[in-house]
Amino acid sequence: MTTQHAAKMIVDKDFKISTIDDRLYGSFIEHLGRAVYGGIYEPGHPQADENGFRRDVLKLINTLRVPIIRYPGGNFVSGYDWKDGIGPKHLRPRRLELAWRTIEPNQFGMNEFVDWSRAAGTDVMWAINLGTHGVDEARNIVEYANHPSGSYWSDLRASHGYAKPHAIKTWCLGNEMDGPWQIGHKNAVEYGRVALESAKVMKWVDPTIELVACGSSGRGMQTFPEWEATVLDHTYEHVEFLSLHSYYGNHENDTATFLGRSLEMEDFIHTVAATCDYIKAKKRSKKKMMLSFDEWNVWFHSNDADRKIEPWQIAPPQLEDLYTMEDALVVGCLLIALLKHSDRVRMACLAQLVNVIAPIMTENGGQAWAQTIFYPYMHASVYGRGQALVPLVQSPKYDTKDITDIPYLESIAVYNEDASEVTVFAVNRDLANPLPLEVDLRSFGSCHVIEHLVLENGDLKATNDAANPNRVQPHNGGNAVADGSKVTANLNKASWNVIRLGLN
Ligand code: AHR
Repeated sequence: MTTQHAAKMIVDKDFKISTIDDRLYGSFIEHLGRAVYGGIYEPGHPQADENGFRRDVLKLINTLRVPIIRYPGGNFVSGYDWKDGIGPKHLRPRRLELAWRTIEPNQFGMNEFVDWSRAAGTDVMWAINLGTHGVDEARNIVEYANHPSGSYWSDLRASHGYAKPHAIKTWCLGNEMDGPWQIGHKNAVEYGRVALESAKVMKWVDPTIELVACGSSGRGMQTFPEWEATVLDHTYEHVEFLSLHSYYGNHENDTATFLGRSLEMEDFIHTVAATCDYIKAKKRSKKKMMLSFDEWNVWFHSNDADRKIEPWQIAPPQLEDLYTMEDALVVGCLLIALLKHSDRVRMACLAQLVNVIAPIMTENGGQAWAQTIFYPYMHASVYGRGQALVPLVQSPKYDTKDITDIPYLESIAVYNEDASEVTVFAVNRDLANPLPLEVDLRSFGSCHVIEHLVLENGDLKATNDAANPNRVQPHNGGNAVADGSKVTANLNKASWNVIRLGLN
């Protein structure tokens, strides 16, 4: 550890963590609040296309280059009948939606989502209902979505105007089934059994699909990590991924601790990976279970407002967190944590994408804009493709009452061989002082700085809102300098940095 207040990082192209799976930069849209209605879909909006898809929202999503989106829930999916959302819209039922206590009008369903995802340039990760549904619906929905033709469900899809199969590759076997709040909550054995039997028939219909089994809904659950072990004991050879979910909040207005929460995310990943490996050993399996961190974000600002929302409305403003500058720093640290474990975490979904705990906000009938957290997510998704390199970091550290040994520097480098670029992502967690950083790129030879992007704001509670949608924005005035294979920069206090280096 350095004694002075400065940090150093060594990266070497031979020390790779992984080739990053693009799906690490996934996101999530649930039938919840204004995510769908008033978010991505708003017929009659001045920016809506002929399908009712908001073009202004699509434009922002295209900027993010989102590779995959989990849909239709979340808690919603555990009471959802997917058949309510197909066929002529005027025949679709309005339902009481019990997870979020709203009215679901079913004007947007599988076929609309697949059309929308094509426009958004993203793949679909479909979550099936294992709360109120079971094995029968599990095989039916795969047949409707993916079977070419000549069977009841595939022909029904064709009759709805979709002769070509949707070819949905990634499927979640339910959502947070360990949580007592879940419709049709199950214990680990009950869930393990139905997940296994569903997985079997789904793959019998389409052997090319990949499946995600539900891990715990958080590492604070009483049943964690026994839940993971039991579920995998049933499903290990039949699924490709186990899910992790985690949300973080600055409930006590203790920013130094809040910024250290990404260490807990890393700890969570270690424990789940170890549990997977324990079951692998127990089963003498050759297969390595991969992880899908398919819900992660900051979520706490809207908690009080949500308690006051009247039930049984269509698309009320639920979970509308207005994100601050410090939330963007936490999201940056969480992205770096995911990259550090990208050998194991092959998919992840920022939860969610529009209006509901989201990087993108909209007004019904009005504008759409980028929240603070949009920027680290965009930078990572756009510049963080390629090889994640092992970050050998020396940094001064600090302690808080909850977490010890939090490095002031959180950082990782990604090597994009095709573009001949290395991008360093770095957060200075120090709230009071700049942090001098030296990056030693020894094996890369000499390089030059393409740009040094910085997201910072004198007010850590600054937000982008409807009146001031551009208050917090990145600038490219960072001071990184390259000299041969050494790069130095002074990272401003409480800042997110993207240092893009071209290899000479
Ligand atoms: O993303 C919001 C909710 O958080 C999801 O519906 C649920 O899966 C989780 O508890």
